[in-house]
Amino acid sequence: MFKKVPGTKDILPDETGRWQTIEAIARNIFSLYNFHEIRTPIIEEASLFKRILGVTTEIVQKQMFFIHSQEDAYVLRPEGTVSIARSYLENNLDKTSGFIKLYYIGPMFRLERPQKGRLRQFHHIGCEVIGSQEAILDVEIISLAEQMFKSFAIADYKIKINSLGCPKDKQALSLSLKQSLQKDNQKLCADCQVRLENNIFRVLDCKNEACQEIVKALALKDRHLCPDCLNHFKEVQNGLGSLNIIFEVEPQLVRGLDYYNRTVFEFTHSNLGSQDAIGAGGRYNNLIKELGGPDIGGIGFAFGVERLLLASSICGEKPLNKLVYLITLGETAKNAGVKILNQLRSSGIPSDMDYLSRSLKAAMRAANDAGARYVLILGEDELKKNVVSLKDMSNSTQREISIQELTKELKC
Ligand code: HAM
Repeated sequence: MFKKVPGTKDILPDETGRWQTIEAIARNIFSLYNFHEIRTPIIEEASLFKRILGVTTEIVQKQMFFIHSQEDAYVLRPEGTVSIARSYLENNLDKTSGFIKLYYIGPMFRLERPQKGRLRQFHHIGCEVIGSQEAILDVEIISLAEQMFKSFAIADYKIKINSLGCPKDKQALSLSLKQSLQKDNQKLCADCQVRLENNIFRVLDCKNEACQEIVKALALKDRHLCPDCLNHFKEVQNGLGSLNIIFEVEPQLVRGLDYYNRTVFEFTHSNLGSQDAIGAGGRYNNLIKELGGPDIGGIGFAFGVERLLLASSICGEKPLNKLVYLITLGETAKNAGVKILNQLRSSGIPSDMDYLSRSLKAAMRAANDAGARYVLILGEDELKKNVVSLKDMSNSTQREISIQELTKELKC
């Protein structure tokens, strides 16, 4: 028997209700904040991500799914931000109002070692706001993310924030980290010894205990920030405070993608083990310019839906709780039944029927399993009288009703 690709997941009918609920809540909250949906392709040019995420990042070095028939020219998108920046410029969205609030929901792909909460195909609910560098926007984005958390019935989450500063500040931080960490080179894990040379920021969020001790001893603060960036970061913190959003400033928080500058943030949850980040985001003030566009800021975040679902106590809606289930007895009734079903569905009444010509008892069981609110029984006798027997499953009462009246009755 064929099996699914490791690190992918079949989302089965008994789970899709929770997915739909989470997605519906997200769409609703995005529209409260005046965001509009964008859908970009799942395949993109590999060079787009190589250039923008950074050739030394883990995603580009190890995690991209190449499509080989195109000589490695295309990849399955590993994240959404870069695709949206590409689309923003390609479709001249910068030439209309310039400022735009976009959201997206869809699958992302990373060639990872699968484990709980870490998949090769996972899903993002994310947003990007392009066109402003204002600190109040950072506050809006974090408060929007928090509102979603609350609506997803997720408790015990933490909001961690930091500022990487402008590119000059980042450069200064990178140099000072290199100098400080060089002396402990031998005590760092093998991965971090390599990172010291080509991806120094990743040393800061290494999970290895020895590395964490060394990083802690650096007592990082906001010393690398220039006055403008420090001011921006203070404004963000004050804005969050004024909305009573509880957060922690975590100087080690750097995020693994090159495009970030200034504010970065992460939402973590205590029950998720080592993959505790449910969502993350930050500013990318140079990204649009680097892609050949104007010098305008951007900020966004993405939640991992699979991790959201692990942390959320939300239940799936039962969309079929008004289901009408038709049981026909005999061939003539079956043909007449198809017409009744058609009539119900055209009137917006969810309905289904027993397609297996089961006995009445077995078909009633199937109706019950399907969660039907009403069962219609149509046999030769009913047909002669032009009626159906209507059983209300909520109180087990049964009565006859004329076929003409049926739709009107069930719509009430
Ligand atoms: P990211 O931190 O790479 O950021 O991913 C965001 C979230 O996606 C993570 O916090 C996690 O919940 C989920 N996630 C990531 N990788 C996996 C995986 N292999 N399996 C399951 N879930 C995963 C970004 O992708 C940025 N584009 C976010 C952003 C938007 N920054 C600015 N705008």
